Amino acid sequence: MASFRFLLFFLFTLSFLIIISESQTTSKPTKLVLQVAKDRATNLHVANIQKRTPPLKVPFVIDLNGRFMWVNCENQYLSSTYNAPLCHSTLCSKANSHYCHKCPTTARPGCHNNTCGLMAVNPVTHEAAMGELAQDALWLPSSTQGSSPGPMVRVPQFLFSCAPSHLLQRGLPRKTQGVADLGHAPISLPIQLSSHFGFQQKFALCLTSTNENGVIFFGQGPYYMLPGIDVSRPVSYTPLTISQQGEYHINVRAIKINNKLVPLNSSLITPTKVGLGRVKLCTTTPYTVLEHSIFNALNKAFADDQQLKGVPQVENVQPFGACFDSRKLSFTKMGPVVPNVDLVLQNNVVWRIHGTNSMVQARPGVMCLGFVDGGVRPTDSVVIGTLQMEDNLLQFDLASSRLGFSSSLLYRRTRCSNFNFTSSTTTP
Ligand SMILES: *[C@@H]1O[C@H](CO)[C@@H](O)[C@H](O)[C@H]1NC(C)=O
Ligand SMILES: *[C@@H]1O[C@H](CO)[C@@H](O)[C@H](O)[C@H]1NC(C)=O
Ligand SMILES: *[C@@H]1O[C@H](CO)[C@@H](O)[C@H](O)[C@H]1NC(C)=O
Repeated sequence: MASFRFLLFFLFTLSFLIIISESQTTSKPTKLVLQVAKDRATNLHVANIQKRTPPLKVPFVIDLNGRFMWVNCENQYLSSTYNAPLCHSTLCSKANSHYCHKCPTTARPGCHNNTCGLMAVNPVTHEAAMGELAQDALWLPSSTQGSSPGPMVRVPQFLFSCAPSHLLQRGLPRKTQGVADLGHAPISLPIQLSSHFGFQQKFALCLTSTNENGVIFFGQGPYYMLPGIDVSRPVSYTPLTISQQGEYHINVRAIKINNKLVPLNSSLITPTKVGLGRVKLCTTTPYTVLEHSIFNALNKAFADDQQLKGVPQVENVQPFGACFDSRKLSFTKMGPVVPNVDLVLQNNVVWRIHGTNSMVQARPGVMCLGFVDGGVRPTDSVVIGTLQMEDNLLQFDLASSRLGFSSSLLYRRTRCSNFNFTSSTTTP
């Protein structure tokens, strides 16, 4: 009898422990944080993300407009939790994959018969290759307060594409093993995270210009940077429109240099018939790319501005269109003192770009306006690149279809490298 009571007690305790451990692994964090670093050679931003079982840190390039995560599976992919859904299954339709994958060699992750194919694209070279839709565990640090990382949390069956390694050969930093996407698509990283953990479809980018780490937040603010500044507010908002490919666009009504309108062919920035803004945001372009006539008009207005009187213009350094003798520029904490570039958005909300986000040290003694020529009739008239985003908080509020932006955090005595990445707990 005693032993029976003991057994009952034992079973009770055991089930209790199982519930506790289960609730720990499936606990619902309200926010996640991801550390990102700038790769010097390519100017791309890279995050180490833990995947697989046992977890392994793998470097991924951040692609704001990617539709799903893809990773090289040809390089010793070892995981006890890898699974590839069969074609025509509901997971394949969720991923919008209607193609049955076949593989002539022996089975391994990325290579099975009758799984579904998902075309992975290198965001720099635009090369594409067929990958296998797969599921595996993904781990990210939670952050209860938004001020430092907390315990790691897991998405046990995260969907991604298992792609061939040749897709990584060009354009991407040497060690990267894949692309982490932030687009608005059914199995994109932000959408899978918010649906798994049940938080709002929101994420925020804070990219650094330096060798230090920046941060991506998933979930609702506040987001704190040292010394205790909530960078999630105040922010200005502008409507965010999503293209059919899941890419982020905004509507720019005018461009001003030092408060004066830059003469533009307005049909180039008028939203498309379906209301899509003509300005795309992109993390795989280091400098903002402008349609040819906008590029010329911007460089001319910038170089002609009163404020640059006395600063000699020098021969252009490719690919830039307005370069100056930097020894004649004066500098503050906000970078070189140059005319502000304002993107005038809907309702006259202004995204102001200061010297720190507009000028590039192109060679010793020469600084250039960091915008490049996109040629005639590009798909998007303006593609905002990372130089113009660095040390700004950009909050993508997918639920309310709006973009919140802080303008330079340097004005608020902080920067994107000021997130406290000292973890308060150890990893599991
Ligand atoms: C797929 O099927 C083909 C033909 O039946 C076979 O030769 C091949 O080994 C299979 N591949 C895998 C990964 O099982
Ligand atoms: C303005 O841009 C549109 C679209 O590219 C073009 O068709 C038109 O000719 C341009 N107008 C002028 C005055 O350059
Ligand atoms: C960073 O966060 C850790 C863990 O929460 C904390 O112990 C430490 O004091 C914080 N550092 C600063 C400079 O606030």
